[in-house]
Amino acid sequence: MKPTDVPSIQHSARQVAIQVVTNILLQQGSLSTQLARHQHDVASEHIPLLKELCFGVCRQYPLLNSIALHLLNHPFEEKDMDLYAALLIGLYQLGYMNTPDHAAVNETVEACRILNKDWATKLINAVLRRYQREADDIIEELEAMPSVEYNQPKWLVKRFKKHWPEQFEQIIEASSAHPPMCIRVNENRVSRETYKAKMAEEGIDSENGQLSPTALYLRSAVRVNELPEFDEGFSSVQDESAQLAAHILVPEVGEHVLDACAAPGGKTGHLLEFAAAKQDQEETLDLTAVELEPWRLEKIEANLERIGLMANLQCADAGDLDTWWDGAQFDKILLDVPCSATGVIRRNPDIKINRKPADIDELVTIQKTILAQVWTTLKPGGHLLYATCSLMPEENEQQVAAFLTSHDDAKEVPLNALNPVLNVASGVSVSHGQQLFPTIKGNDGFYYCLIQKNIV
Ligand SMILES: C[S@@+](CC[C@H](N)C(=O)[O-])C[C@H]1O[C@@H](n2cnc3c(N)ncnc32)[C@H](O)[C@@H]1O
Repeated sequence: MKPTDVPSIQHSARQVAIQVVTNILLQQGSLSTQLARHQHDVASEHIPLLKELCFGVCRQYPLLNSIALHLLNHPFEEKDMDLYAALLIGLYQLGYMNTPDHAAVNETVEACRILNKDWATKLINAVLRRYQREADDIIEELEAMPSVEYNQPKWLVKRFKKHWPEQFEQIIEASSAHPPMCIRVNENRVSRETYKAKMAEEGIDSENGQLSPTALYLRSAVRVNELPEFDEGFSSVQDESAQLAAHILVPEVGEHVLDACAAPGGKTGHLLEFAAAKQDQEETLDLTAVELEPWRLEKIEANLERIGLMANLQCADAGDLDTWWDGAQFDKILLDVPCSATGVIRRNPDIKINRKPADIDELVTIQKTILAQVWTTLKPGGHLLYATCSLMPEENEQQVAAFLTSHDDAKEVPLNALNPVLNVASGVSVSHGQQLFPTIKGNDGFYYCLIQKNIV
């Protein structure tokens, strides 16, 4: 039966959402890469719906997955992951969207037919209808599971509780919330107060960030092309914690600076803007940006083109110096390593599906190698800022502790050593560096440690 009476969901947005969620379930890429690849498969007016379905399923995955497994006699096989994705999307609509219940059920059943899996229509129909009737009882029964109670994978709940008992509730709440839209004002073009006033004239209300002097939080999110002079580089979308990197490292024109793991280039752009803003002319920093993934390097190019500043871009493994380094040592290095992204789950909710405990060990090894190699490119007396958007001590303070133990030419210095007026007191001072936690209406979770190379 065709759901002719229920035009609530544009057919193609649902089908594309099924494809995106299937690929995530099959570990074939992250939500952001999948959306970037597939969002143009739907009409532009349906992109918000596509995003709502995909982000929503990932955000609520621990609960939706438990409900689905509870209602199915057997989990779906890998070859039928598309059906499982359709089921999760149907459950998400029933639980979290305004779609009328009968529409959510009928459209999911119809999706099975479009997938050429008519054999599953009865099953999907029965599962969704049972959930419709018994939702409260089912949820009550499942709530004893930590993954359902906290809406996070069980292993992450355990680790957050163990490492951050005092911040546990905050981490859980902020990790499931919709993140605020935060922008960085390009002080090379305009002051924060002037830009704030320009936005207010356009009806966009904002508040100053308390940590980063360039941060503005929008009261409600807007499309970037609604931001005043966005295409001319007057502002960029960037979380407030991430903005601290440039304010901590204080890059100056005339310095030779490395951004070692650079894409998509948010911090690359900020380092350049920061240095240029301190100069009278449009002179800029001598900045090298290294990125492993070619398609991500293109994002840096686009970002820099928009703000009108330039860097020496290298597509390489930052840890393989022979492939990109010319031997000229750097005054300052930003090392924003690949990490578990456990401080930014709300922006990358597919972490709830794909991240596994073993990933942390693997990432720690990668970070260790890059850190040790990149360290050799730093001048004596120079500074390296080690950064992650992780809440895992293994990737952060423990990584730095191991590094300091094995490198007697390295010493930790305070985060405001190069910028004494910077407010860096918002996080928790850990054994090495500062751990920032995600806050519901504010910054993401982040980690910073500033390390100086001794002059021998
Ligand atoms: C946390 S992200 C960096 C975010 C970036 N600094 C920004 O602010 O936009 C880490 C980046 O490192 C890249 N990467 C991973 N391994 C790398 C390696 N061995 N060498 C260089 N880049 C690497 C990833 O592709 C990813 O783009």
